Amino acid sequence: MALTDQSTVDPFAPTTLGPVRLRNRVVKAATSEGRSPDGLVTEDLIDFHRRFAKGGVGMTTVAYCCVSPDGASAPGQIVMDDRAVPGLRRFADAIHQEGAAISAQLGHAGVVANKRLIGKTPMAPSRFINPASFDYCREIRQDEIRRVIDQFGEAAQVAVTAGFDAVELHFGHLYLPSSFLSPLINRRKDAYGGTIENRSRFVREIAQRVREVVGDRIAVTAKLNMVDGMRGGIWLAESLRTAQLLDTDRNLDAIELTEGSSVYKPMYLFRGDVPADDFAKVLPQPQSIGVRMFGKAAMGNFPYHDLYMLDDARQFIPVINNTKLILLGGINSRDHMVTGLSEGFDFVALGRALLRQPDLVNRLMDDPTARGLCNHNNKCMVTVFGSTHCVLDPSQAYDAVDGASYRGRSEISSS
Ligand SMILES: Cc1cc2nc3c(=O)[nH]c(=O)nc-3n(C[C@H](O)[C@H](O)[C@H](O)COP(=O)(O)O)c2cc1C
Ligand code: SF4
Repeated sequence: MALTDQSTVDPFAPTTLGPVRLRNRVVKAATSEGRSPDGLVTEDLIDFHRRFAKGGVGMTTVAYCCVSPDGASAPGQIVMDDRAVPGLRRFADAIHQEGAAISAQLGHAGVVANKRLIGKTPMAPSRFINPASFDYCREIRQDEIRRVIDQFGEAAQVAVTAGFDAVELHFGHLYLPSSFLSPLINRRKDAYGGTIENRSRFVREIAQRVREVVGDRIAVTAKLNMVDGMRGGIWLAESLRTAQLLDTDRNLDAIELTEGSSVYKPMYLFRGDVPADDFAKVLPQPQSIGVRMFGKAAMGNFPYHDLYMLDDARQFIPVINNTKLILLGGINSRDHMVTGLSEGFDFVALGRALLRQPDLVNRLMDDPTARGLCNHNNKCMVTVFGSTHCVLDPSQAYDAVDGASYRGRSEISSS
């Protein structure tokens, strides 16, 4: 693979993402916020993202906005309908004032939802029992598939109306679109099941519908699973094919490569310390006993190393021709960014490093040798039951996490 000379790579130089000009190549990855209790934008949510914008990122991503009420994976998520527009417009204006762009992650939970939360049985490609929550999911019908595809289009229109710069289609972490790719969860016999080409049909149709709706008014990206991290799930050979198909369709401006899920061994996505005891403290009984006894084994134990998704993600570079690629996972310094960009990635996305230090980009511009302070203890995972924050940053001491806010949650992490 031809590497670009690292001395010529500047992560902080302006660039374009589809029709959008970004001041640099650093994207704040979606980290569920818990700051919209009524499903509407709050000042707290705007302030949370203003810190990343002020802190220098090129684009911030509003986590998990549902395309419909039954697409929710946790209480209080923003549903992308007309009611949300005035708040989203204020939100976009505030982020633009700081010089950053703003994207909305659009999702449908599918197997990650639960009946208590959405008031009906969750939908999956085929009948499925979520091994994390033991929730039963029924098979989605073809007319419902078409409805969800339309809902993605309608949600993207809301983002355009509100002045957003981009939408990120959540095709990862075994949410509904991602679960169609998984041979374990998708055992359909129709045109949406079987070969990887058939299993990719749903995500391709979503991307196509969204592109038809938004045209070139905003950028369209997707967060795509490279590997599900569970036996029987997708692995690289198949996700490479899905990415190629999406690339050939030319409906996406960029693909952010991710892996793992909250359905099975969630630490595959995060790596590093397993915060099982912290989860046990906030979960109601009897889950808390279960997590205390079996949490570490159930969550998985995968050592953290910097750039931990790079080995898998670099396989996509030679097969993708028309779509930009975003590298994610354990990026914590300017050197990490330069390594990824010199290999051929167009952007880098950071989650925890920015939760820990929202102004990390500005710091790295001032001191290229600095290193982010996130220590990957993963205690922020537990804070998703309240308002997501880094527990090591006293200035982010938002409302305490408590068991009450857990009820109705479908999973131990809402990613
Ligand atoms: C507290 C927390 C919440 C997250 N919520 C989401 C989410 O809502 N949607 C999503 O796609 N990923 C979510 N993620 C995953 C991140 O976007 C990212 O993929 C992961 O943390 C790896 O990147 P990092 O090493 O830069 O943190 C979350 C991560 C954390 C730590
Ligand atoms: S709690 Fe803070 S230091 Fe720990 S993993 Fe999360 S962001 Fe990093």
